[in-house]
Amino acid sequence: MKEKIAEVLVTREQIREKVKEIGKRISEDYAGKDLILIGVLKGSFIFLADLMREITIPVDMDLIAVSSYGSSTSSSGVVRIIKDIDLDITGKHVLIVEDLVDTGLTLKHLTELFQTRNPLSIKTCTALDKPSRRKVHIDIDYKGIVIPDKFVVGYGLDYAGRYRNLPDVCVLKSYDQ
Ligand code: IMP
Ligand code: MG
Repeated sequence: MKEKIAEVLVTREQIREKVKEIGKRISEDYAGKDLILIGVLKGSFIFLADLMREITIPVDMDLIAVSSYGSSTSSSGVVRIIKDIDLDITGKHVLIVEDLVDTGLTLKHLTELFQTRNPLSIKTCTALDKPSRRKVHIDIDYKGIVIPDKFVVGYGLDYAGRYRNLPDVCVLKSYDQ
């Protein structure tokens, strides 16, 4: 895989530091509250696993799967639910956990969807933020690392289903503009 990588944009050490910091904040903010973390599949599974282990209060978790870009590297703007969560979030505090916020369409759609189910609160968390490509306004309550407008892989993020297992966030050679 190494020969395909043009640049390491965010190192595993930088990610680990940020995840620790966010986990600590969440633990403080939600102390004594019923919190459900909802990971957005597939991309967020590694971040969710890391983040959960930095949270020191009891939490429940669930997963939702939404349509991805397929093999393309730009958003179609269409968000399709492939697998819904199993838990009832009524009266619970919900924190949506994303790998990367790009256009913001996914997070906006999911926030609106969960809002219809009467949770006590909904907040958002992302490992990476690409603000230059935002199409809709979205509040990110726990923001990881801000990255430039480059297509990235690794730490759960894929290109055509590959490279999710890279421990660092990288730019592929063909996308190094
Ligand atoms: P958004 O709806 O445009 O904010 O982005 C939704 C999802 O697209 C993200 O959660 C990622 O899973 C995926 N995505 C966006 N940018 C990238 C990228 O640079 N690399 C890999 N996946 C991406
Ligand atoms: Mg995602």
